[in-house]
Amino acid sequence: MQINSFEAYQEAYKMSVDQPEQFWANIADKFYWRKKWDNVLSWNFSEPNIKWFEGGKLNITENCLDRHLEKNGDKPAIIWESNDPEKPSVTLTYKILHEQVCRFANVLKKNGVVKGDRICIYMPMVPELAVAVLACARIGAVHSVIFGGFSAKSIADRINDSACKLVLTADGSFRGNKQIQLKEVIDDALIGCPTVEKVIVLTHTRTPVSMLKGRDLWFEDEIKLVDTDCPAEEMDAEDMLFILYTSGSTGKPKGVVHTVGGYMVYAGYTFLNAFNYQPDEVFFCTADIGWITGHSYIVYGPLSQGATTLMFEGVPTYPDASRMWQIVEKHKVNILYTAPTAIRSLMSFGLDPLKGSNLSSLRVLGSVGEPINEEAWHWFDEHVGNSNCPIVDTWWQTETGGLMISPIAFVIPLKPACATLPLPGVQPILVDEQGNEIEGNGVNGNLCIKFPWPGMLRTTYGDHERCKQTYFSTYPNLYFTGDGCMRDEDGYYKITGRVDDVINVSGHRIGTAEVENAINMHAGVVESAVVGYPHEVKGQGIYAFVIFPNLHNEADLTKKDILQTVTRVIGAIAKPDKILFVTGLPKTRSGKIMRRILRKIAEGDTSNLGDISTLLDPGVVEEIIDKSKS
Ligand code: WTA
Repeated sequence: MQINSFEAYQEAYKMSVDQPEQFWANIADKFYWRKKWDNVLSWNFSEPNIKWFEGGKLNITENCLDRHLEKNGDKPAIIWESNDPEKPSVTLTYKILHEQVCRFANVLKKNGVVKGDRICIYMPMVPELAVAVLACARIGAVHSVIFGGFSAKSIADRINDSACKLVLTADGSFRGNKQIQLKEVIDDALIGCPTVEKVIVLTHTRTPVSMLKGRDLWFEDEIKLVDTDCPAEEMDAEDMLFILYTSGSTGKPKGVVHTVGGYMVYAGYTFLNAFNYQPDEVFFCTADIGWITGHSYIVYGPLSQGATTLMFEGVPTYPDASRMWQIVEKHKVNILYTAPTAIRSLMSFGLDPLKGSNLSSLRVLGSVGEPINEEAWHWFDEHVGNSNCPIVDTWWQTETGGLMISPIAFVIPLKPACATLPLPGVQPILVDEQGNEIEGNGVNGNLCIKFPWPGMLRTTYGDHERCKQTYFSTYPNLYFTGDGCMRDEDGYYKITGRVDDVINVSGHRIGTAEVENAINMHAGVVESAVVGYPHEVKGQGIYAFVIFPNLHNEADLTKKDILQTVTRVIGAIAKPDKILFVTGLPKTRSGKIMRRILRKIAEGDTSNLGDISTLLDPGVVEEIIDKSKS
């Protein structure tokens, strides 16, 4: 299953295009199925209707746990590093992890959870989070993990959208020198969530929490009441595995749905190949399990391959900027997979923090979440990789389930800051605005995928039409990624960033419409427009233009009120970096905001705003430019 030469890559790629069913069947064969599939693939992108390994029966946790027990029961599955460097790390072997998952699964069963129920998980980055995810999968419950930075309202929206029956949380979480009161946020959320029957609360920060009789239970109490025997539920390959909410250009976040069989095969295959994982290596993905990267490359990908995966609770700059490097040394990390925003933030501390740590265990580096700039790429290469570790710049999305365009370490010749070539099974195509294919090399276009791959989303929860509209209608018979892309002279792909109204802030996907809605909820706001602008560390920052008629000379305070409002409505991750009060927005006669102009202003590039003659009132542009400069 592991590709070891460029020729082998070319061969695999060719087969994946010429005989996709045979190609993926060979790979799926390397996993454990209780019953093999009847049909590898049936699909159309018009409904869309995509089925992989139909008729196959399996449980993903048997692939991630049980099948490793005999040979690798005592091998570390998860190594956990606390936020607090003084606290001892925790190692869960495959045997222990298996026991814990079974136990937790029994707790879920005891509390009435059955196959198909949706479970909301809002937990810190502790081993019990991985255990919780796998416990759901063990019994066929569908997990919906929500990142710890989202507000009560965001959580309530997500819980209600998928009618979750149970919530798994903790008293609180530590992130750097901050504590987040998770249970309190959940309590606020649950005021508006009638479907939730039980809340299971893990003790972590031991901050006082309210515990509601009949609803709230302590994890520590529950776990004592069950044993470790929990046979895995038999699942169909196309049964739902999880929902993960993500932002798009319009409306509320959508629940991207992944199913068991195809997702497993894809996460496992891409993990093993792109990172060239070798047995006994330690793989450190710095993402949070609240995002797809954590799902696929902390939990399912590595565990399905019997790997050792390192989970870190904290942030790279706490207690200081040497923390990541200390972790690499302490756990002899071989593969480090992180985000450009983390690299840029660490770069800003200079080279001193690197000096005290031995990084010689590193063999492969990875980057994900946003386009990496060349400066950060070279810094990562030279100072972390000692110019000796391939960097895999992996392009993919929540919707794709796993890596799509990415170097394969030691196999694909690299170019700095370039996602290089599609992995086997991935058929990218560039199109113009009208959907015409842009052929040849040295071209730019909108990135689409023209053939299904096992890890792709199947629907958006509760609203299949939305899935169709968002991904499969812009260009008929193509999956549209929302990204712009360049194919260079050598046929290498370089992702240039979103072409829709989604911005990527520190690798977090945020819909501008969502932020606008949040700002507009402030009582004094009449209207707002939000755009992204280049930000040195975050990649993109959030720039909000806000119409707020009665400012009363309290602009600074009002800005803080707006930030507070956004924090309440979405969460701190969506707070604008800049707010500019304006009296009007550049609109066309049909009332559409011309974001192109606002983007230019936000970038500080007002020399060439293009054609503004179609604006209803070109005068507002002058005003906005003046204000943006003062
Ligand atoms: C962006 C994260 C450039 C892209 C896995 C995509 C990237 C969005 C890269 C998905 C990369 C992710 N180079 N851009 N290597 N990786 N992106 O769903 O815009 O949180 O559409 O998935 O991040 O973000 P998501």
